[in-house]
This record gives sequence, structure tokens and C-alpha cells, in this order.
Amino acid sequence: MSRFWKPGAERPQLLDDEEGGVIFFSAPSSAAGLYGYANLERQRQRLPVYKFRTAILYLVEKHATSIVVGETGSGKTTQIPQYLKEAGWAEGGRVIACTQPRRLAVQSVASRVAEEMGVKLGEEVGYTIRFEDVTNPGVTVIKFLTDGVLLREMMDDPLLTKYSVIMVDEAHERSLSTDTLFQRRRPDLRLIISSATIEAKSMSAFFSSSKKRPIQVPGDHIPEAVPAIISVEGKGFPVEIHYSEESFSNYEPAGDILVFLTGQDDIEAAVRLLMEDGQAPESRSSGLLILPLYSGLPRAEQDLVFSPTPKGKRKVIISTNIAETSLTLEGVVYVVDSGFSKQRFYNPISDIENLVVAPISKASARQRAGRAGRVRPGKCFRLYTEEYFVKEMPNEGIPEMQRSNLVSCVIQLKSLGIDNILGFDWISPPAPESMIRALEVLYSLGVLDDDAKLTTLLDPMISKMILSANEYGCSEEVITIAAVLSIQSIWVSMRGAQRELDDVKLRFAAAEGDHITYLNIYKGFLNSGKSPQWCHKNFINYQAMKKVLEIREQLIKLLKRLGMILKSCEKDTLAIRKAIVAGFFAHACRLETFGQNGMYKTLRSSQEVHIHPSSVLFRVNPKWVIYNSIVSTDRQYMRHVLAIDPSWLTEAAPHFYQLQKPYPAAY
Ligand code: CDP
Ligand code: MG
Repeated sequence: MSRFWKPGAERPQLLDDEEGGVIFFSAPSSAAGLYGYANLERQRQRLPVYKFRTAILYLVEKHATSIVVGETGSGKTTQIPQYLKEAGWAEGGRVIACTQPRRLAVQSVASRVAEEMGVKLGEEVGYTIRFEDVTNPGVTVIKFLTDGVLLREMMDDPLLTKYSVIMVDEAHERSLSTDTLFQRRRPDLRLIISSATIEAKSMSAFFSSSKKRPIQVPGDHIPEAVPAIISVEGKGFPVEIHYSEESFSNYEPAGDILVFLTGQDDIEAAVRLLMEDGQAPESRSSGLLILPLYSGLPRAEQDLVFSPTPKGKRKVIISTNIAETSLTLEGVVYVVDSGFSKQRFYNPISDIENLVVAPISKASARQRAGRAGRVRPGKCFRLYTEEYFVKEMPNEGIPEMQRSNLVSCVIQLKSLGIDNILGFDWISPPAPESMIRALEVLYSLGVLDDDAKLTTLLDPMISKMILSANEYGCSEEVITIAAVLSIQSIWVSMRGAQRELDDVKLRFAAAEGDHITYLNIYKGFLNSGKSPQWCHKNFINYQAMKKVLEIREQLIKLLKRLGMILKSCEKDTLAIRKAIVAGFFAHACRLETFGQNGMYKTLRSSQEVHIHPSSVLFRVNPKWVIYNSIVSTDRQYMRHVLAIDPSWLTEAAPHFYQLQKPYPAAY
């Protein structure tokens, strides 16, 4: 039985008071006066969530899981982590984490919280997204991150020992990572699930089920397993809904406009149209400041969206569903809802995953409309009929879990030590066909062994590369490459002797890149009779080479079991390179600036990356490359780099490069 807290109370009142005798936990310090930013501080206290500060802190103290529901803009994301810090949850080197489903939201809320706390971003308040870690370990106490990044941290540290509280924000989005995060965990770790439209009861029921309870150990500090739910009152204003029959040729009074379209392409096209219109004399768009908003938007353009609207202008923000809940946009009075968003769908029968434009749910439509009532009564223009809304729109969206390729999800669960995948207690169970399909794929790839345990080859990209090698007739070579890629490094660590190592590398270096270089090394090793002396002379780690032989043997067994015949392509490196691209097409990059160690951009997300100094291509800088992995130090470095021809990308993955980011026709 879970408890519900009545909104609006200064102190929490138990609605479902079976036990009674509640002791209130009060925060040790009053927030007022702690900061020099009196104005910001006053703003903080005006947020709806402020009234519930004590209640929230009390719940988090007492319960392993607390669920906070409150309208967008009520202050959940920016305030709760600060309350927790003020109440001592960051003492003793512990960190408060707050996850967001989107990178852009992570950056934006982290900057806001740093500003409110009067600290530099990356110090007490930091954030981590893929390819960008703006934290200072030991100093950062409030950390915003994408749930994907947290999940990855969980692979190395399943108990997430450095965190005291994890707030899984925007839980209604039900991303794959969020759903996977709701697992058994450290008994003292507090989980806060927060969201604007979450189905609180079903979440609560889920956490009450015995399997999800943290293991109960006697002791004072163990929180109750039964989740608590609190609803924080929003301060929305009424929004008039207009359906498409009505003409809305004039929207007179001032106020920004938020338009929901589906994806970057649509948004850019709409922005262009409106800008062109704005240049025409007597155009109605001339007083408009037209701004796009989507995940991959460069930082400077993001900032424009959040900065105040200039006097006499009206902002028109054309956005994906990112503005639905993740981001708060001040000043929006009009919302235009196209009724569509881009969603990932997986067809387990054809085994194809697509990003498709699909109708949104009623919950999303209401959420979109709500964006118009932030500062005063607003209007929402729905580009669909009322009949469609009432009769045809689904009530809730389909959780990502039920519309995704589960291959990587299964791998993640397995690597977290959760082996009984089919009997697993999901919040929204995926379709059995998808699950079985994922397991089949993983068996056939050799990622799972006979006991359904993970084998060393857990990387689906490597698996794909090997399967393709079978088609290209170069499996002999490619399994050698796979074996080398699956170990740390085949070189002896050479601190201080970089020059010598570089000279040695030249003996084996192939113009095609690292993968082919590894083949040369492997050949040399075999020709030497697998000699430790040969390894020593060439700065190659003998133990690593023995491991390569071992993994290779495993792979050969596996391929035989799958009925594949090992085949060598002799000197045809083209076949090998195409097989590699077939596995790693998603890791393609294009050279952007030439020079000593030129800058590349990933095709998928336009991230800046460089070739790692350990690569044979470090000084070569081919125009197009793919990489195996990224290491981040002062920069993002690509490891294991191969020069490619861009036409191989579309050949290997036409759906991927058409849907995500087609490379310019000029190449
Ligand atoms: O998470 P929730 O939607 O409940 O609210 P929030 O993101 O914590 O936002 C609370 C308040 O902080 C809103 O009134 C926003 O206007 C403000 N905020 C801001 O000014 N800049 C940001 N980057 C984020 C929030
Ligand atoms: Mg939020």
C-alpha cells in the first residue's frame, strides 16, 4: 500500500494513514540567506515545489523510493537536487545524481542550477553526457546526466556506490534506459522518480512488488521499501484549446509561440519558410524571432531559445517534443501542436528499427497544450480535429521498451548480472516476440553462451562485423581483428619511450589504418613461431597476443557451430574493410579541419573528435574514417581507426544513413 500526500500542505499530511505517528524530518539549514543571489533566491521560493520542500526531504529520508509528480515548471528538476544538498545528502563525498532523457536538457538544467547556487558549472554542479564530462570528481556534488550515461556507469559500478540519491527525472518518457535503471539496488540508495504525467499508481505498485524491494537488512538507516508518492501543485493557467476547424489567422496579444513539429528537417524547413516570409515587405512574420529547437542544436543557438524575448518582438520556437516536458520555456502563450512526433519503432519480424513520424498520445497533447499556460492564460492550436483527439488518439504513448530492438537492453541486463530475462519483472513488459528475437540474435552472434551467460564478445558491432565477414569471404582475417579489438591493447605500455614505439609501429603500419595494421602484427607473430622474444623486440605484449589466440579459437568454434566456413580473402583488404564498416557504420566521422591532428565530426551527432595518438593514422588524417571506441581525456579521441570510402556507409546501412544524417551529395 502506498501513501499519498495531499498537495498544498505546508507539512505533509498522510492521506492513507494506517500507521500514524509520523516524525517530520526538517532540513538542517534554511535556504534563505545562503546565497548572494537574492533575486534568484526569491524566484526559487516562489516555485510550487518549494512548499513541499520539507515533505519531499522527509519522504526521501524515510523511503527507498519516492515518486514526485508535478507539472512542468513546478521546479522538480532544478530545486529537488538543491534541497537534497542543503539537507546533507552530498556530505561525506557522496553525489546527488539527476538523470534526464535528453542531452540538451542535461546541459540546460545544470547551467541553471549552477547559476542559482552561484557556482561555476563543472565544479559543485556538473553534468555528463556522452562525449562530454563537465564534472570535477571530488568537488561535484550535484551531477546531471543522461540516463544512458548512468546506465553505462552502472556497468562498472553496479551498486552506484558514489551516489546517495538518484533522481530519475521525466520518468513518464519511459526510455529504455530509465526502465532498465529500475532494478534491485543498494539498500541505502534513494531513488526519486519524478515526472509531469507519470501514472503514479502503476509505478508505485511496481515498486511495492516484492522483487523490486531493496534487500532489507536490520539497521537504523534502512529506508522503508514501500514507495511514497507526493504531488506538487503546479501553477498553470487555463489554456483554451482550438481545433483546426477554427480559423486562427490572427493571434493578437503579445506572447511567444511554441510550435511542435517532428524532427530537425521539418523544423529547419519551417524556420527557413518563416524567415523568407519575414523578409517580404508588409510580412506578418517581420516582428517574429524564429528559433529552432532540437537535440543536436549547437550550444549558441540553444541559448537564444532561453534568453528573454527582445522588446517589440515575439519569439517563435519551432521544436521537437523536447519542449514538451524536458525544458521550461518562459513566456510561451501560444502553442501550435502538429499532433506528431518522431518515435523509434522496432519490427521484431523484419528485425528493422526505424525512426518514424507517428501520432502523439492524448497525454502528450495535453502536455503540449499546458506549455501555453506558464505565465498567463494561453491558447493551444491543434492541427487536428476534436473528433480525432477524442476518438482516435491513444491515451498513453507506448513505452520505448515495447517498441525497441531489445538486443542492447538484454545485453545491459545481462551485464548487470540479471540473468532471468524472460521471467524478469518489467514495468511494461516488452512483446515476447521482441524478447525472443533478441535472445535468438544474441545466441546466433555468440554474445550469449549455452547457459545464456554473456560471452566476451558482447559488442553487437563486433558481432555484426564478423557476420558480414562471412559474406565478404574474409572471416579468417576479421576474427583476428575482432580478437585484437576485444582486448585492451596489444602494445607494451611505453611511458617515456613514445618515439621508439612510434618507430616500431611503422614496421607494421598499413595505410588503411589500425585494423589492417593488427593483421600485419598477427602475421608477424605467427611467422615468428609465436615467439615471446619477437614480441619483446617489437614492443608487443606477449600475454595480450596469447589472449588474442585464445579468443580467436573461441570465435572459430562459434562460427563452426553457426555453420559458417572460415575463409581467407588473402590480400584483398577491400573485403575486410567493408566487413568492418558493416559492423561499425554508426561510428563514421568526416575530417573537418586539416592540420597536425585534424578535427573530425561524427556523422551521427556532429561531435568533435580526433584520432588518438596511438593510431597509425594519427598524422595521416584521411577524409573519412570509422572508429571502434572513443576515449576522452583533454579531447575526445577515436581509438582503432580505419580509413573508409563514404559510399560503403550507405551500402552497409542505407536505412541508417537515410534516416539519420545523409552525408552531402558532394562526397
Ligand atoms: O522540472 P520542472 O519542470 O518541474 O521545473 P524546472 O525545470 O525545475 O523549472 C523551474 C523553474 O526554473 C521554471 O520556472 C523555469 O523558468 C526556471 N528555469 C530556468 O529559468 N532556466 C532553466 N534552464 C531551467 C529552469
Ligand atoms: Mg523537469
